[in-house]
Amino acid sequence: MYTTMAPMLLQAKQEGKGVPAFNIHALEVVPMMARTAAEKNCPVILQVSVSTAKYIGFHLLSTVVRESAAALNIPVALHLDHASKLEDISAAIEGGFSSVMYDGSQLPLDENISRTQEAVKLARGADVSIEAELGIVGRGKIVESYPYTDPEDAVRFVAETGVDALAVGIGTHHGQYKAKTNINLDVLKAIHEKVSTPLVLHGGTGVREEDVRICVRLGMHKLNFGTELNVSWVRAAKEVFGAAEPDESLRELMIRCNNAMADTIRKKIDLVRF
Ligand code: 13P
Repeated sequence: MYTTMAPMLLQAKQEGKGVPAFNIHALEVVPMMARTAAEKNCPVILQVSVSTAKYIGFHLLSTVVRESAAALNIPVALHLDHASKLEDISAAIEGGFSSVMYDGSQLPLDENISRTQEAVKLARGADVSIEAELGIVGRGKIVESYPYTDPEDAVRFVAETGVDALAVGIGTHHGQYKAKTNINLDVLKAIHEKVSTPLVLHGGTGVREEDVRICVRLGMHKLNFGTELNVSWVRAAKEVFGAAEPDESLRELMIRCNNAMADTIRKKIDLVRF
């Protein structure tokens, strides 16, 4: 069934489990992602960047997710990832998304809080869940010294914004595929002791399996995985399409790529639902 994100995270928190959030880059993968999660009886968040949402179309995407979820016995949410403009948050809400993220992490704390408050107002008015970000999740090359999230700032941020989920900077990177990241579990522990709002792990691809489990225990109940799924699809595509004749069924070829991504999805589910 199609639902919002907040109740999924609260239930995961009660159960001491994580909810995986998988990045979608193309419509083709949506039914497979929802079905694979249902096979594992796992609630799932399907999420897109603003660029992907615009490429597919907000409403078309939410229609496909809603229809894919309708027949399944698990909660499925559709979430807008890393929106830094309120107009994109509004477009997602009007387009039928059930969850959004406002990312003001590049802004000074006071401004991040006030912009997030505006985003929260938009989301609450439409019964849509909302995540925000405080601290930096890296992109591109690894840097050694980090602007980790300050636990005291996190306390103030959740109290003043009332978000449903908070992404925090503990040293993870988006897209880190070849080497694993050294995350700062002491920072996470300190945030977890002070903040009861479900926390979000960004850059899940680069996090060691054992660290993902620790993150769940330390309050991260939404765990994002993007790059590794993309890699498994594209890797399969290189092989499958490389060996295919041009008149072979595109459907059959894509099913094989989807199957490769589904295997990665199953592994990630096992990591967060232990
Ligand atoms: P990865 O692509 O590193 O798994 O990160 C996904 C993510 O955090 C999306 O916001």
